[in-house]
Amino acid sequence: MPVEIGYDVHKVRALLPVLREYNYLNVGTYGIVAEPVLARSLERLRNYDARGVAAYEEVIAGQEQARAHVARALGAHPEEIAFTGNATDGVNLVTAGLTWQEGDEVIISNEEHPAVTFPWYYLQQRGGPRVKQFHVQAAEEPVLAELAQLVTPHTRLIATSHVSHRSGTRLPVAGICKWARERGILTLLDGAQAFAQFPIDVHVLGCDFYTTNGHKWLCGPKGTGIFYVRREVLPLTHVAHTGAGAMRAYNLENLELVPSARRFEFGTRSHALYEGLDAALDWFDRLGWEAIERHLAWHSAYLKSQVLARPGFKLHSPVPWAESSALVTISVDGMDAHTLANNLRTQHRTITPPVAAFNALRISTAYFVIKEDLDRLLAILDRMVTE
Ligand SMILES: Cc1ncc(COP(=O)(O)O)c(C=O)c1O
Repeated sequence: MPVEIGYDVHKVRALLPVLREYNYLNVGTYGIVAEPVLARSLERLRNYDARGVAAYEEVIAGQEQARAHVARALGAHPEEIAFTGNATDGVNLVTAGLTWQEGDEVIISNEEHPAVTFPWYYLQQRGGPRVKQFHVQAAEEPVLAELAQLVTPHTRLIATSHVSHRSGTRLPVAGICKWARERGILTLLDGAQAFAQFPIDVHVLGCDFYTTNGHKWLCGPKGTGIFYVRREVLPLTHVAHTGAGAMRAYNLENLELVPSARRFEFGTRSHALYEGLDAALDWFDRLGWEAIERHLAWHSAYLKSQVLARPGFKLHSPVPWAESSALVTISVDGMDAHTLANNLRTQHRTITPPVAAFNALRISTAYFVIKEDLDRLLAILDRMVTE
């Protein structure tokens, strides 16, 4: 049976009504928002939208409280955190915000989401830096050895997932960032699949940029992107878009960006969303981040052990928790993952996305998933194998 998790998962599940309809194994795409979080999000949205400027001070106070909370959760200073719409926004802020020279090169991993590949390859297509790729592995030594083969005096930046969205592999990002910093190369980490799975301290990781969102593993509202910029690299970073709120003063002869990551924010936005993010962080604070990580790790390990014990099943994720995550990617011999994912959803009310690159299914063992959910999935797959 699961280790002592530290929170009552059945009480948690009662606050996630979609679980009465579906075996929901896909927070890697969209998290599901618990009722207490949703209640505060909606109450804030109603308050701000109904009261307009009358709520302005409250709006800003709520947003800054959320910023401080996010900063604590990531080990950053609040001035290093910008709110964006999603994780992809942060990647685009980097592609558009740095000044590129003729001949520049960037290195990305071979398991990046289009959130990373599209902005970099599109920039390359427009005459920007040449993109190279290294292979995802959990072990630091081979990754650094491959980077050493790829690096040139023109390498400006390494962009990589913290956790691969395909295999759930946790990359050796602290080692990569240290290696890059020693060579004057910038680093951008995509933490969309990492944030709220295990502790993250961006200062300890040593990255220059970290982008993530609140809507996957944290199970907060959609539209809550988070972008971290290391204080020391802020002056190197221009803004792609700008407007009211992003400049120090109204001085059209000498516009100066605000000296914090708020320079990436401008114009009117749905500030209430960020209070929804704050509410999601509060919810995880209440449950306990360590307990959540234990839950994720136990269920990830359980599923992997079951997959490894079945002939004809293949595991595409590393086994040790420190090298992996609660994204578990599996395939079954002779089965087309796309068809399988479709059948699971339509015939068995089980939500798992296919991973085309591996002809596999990706299962998220999120904080509300129980062993029985995984056993139900495995029983369906077992039946399909013998049919
Ligand atoms: C690794 C990774 N990066 C980025 C994204 C995109 O996140 P967003 O929709 O917040 O831009 C995803 C979404 O699945 C992802 O898995």
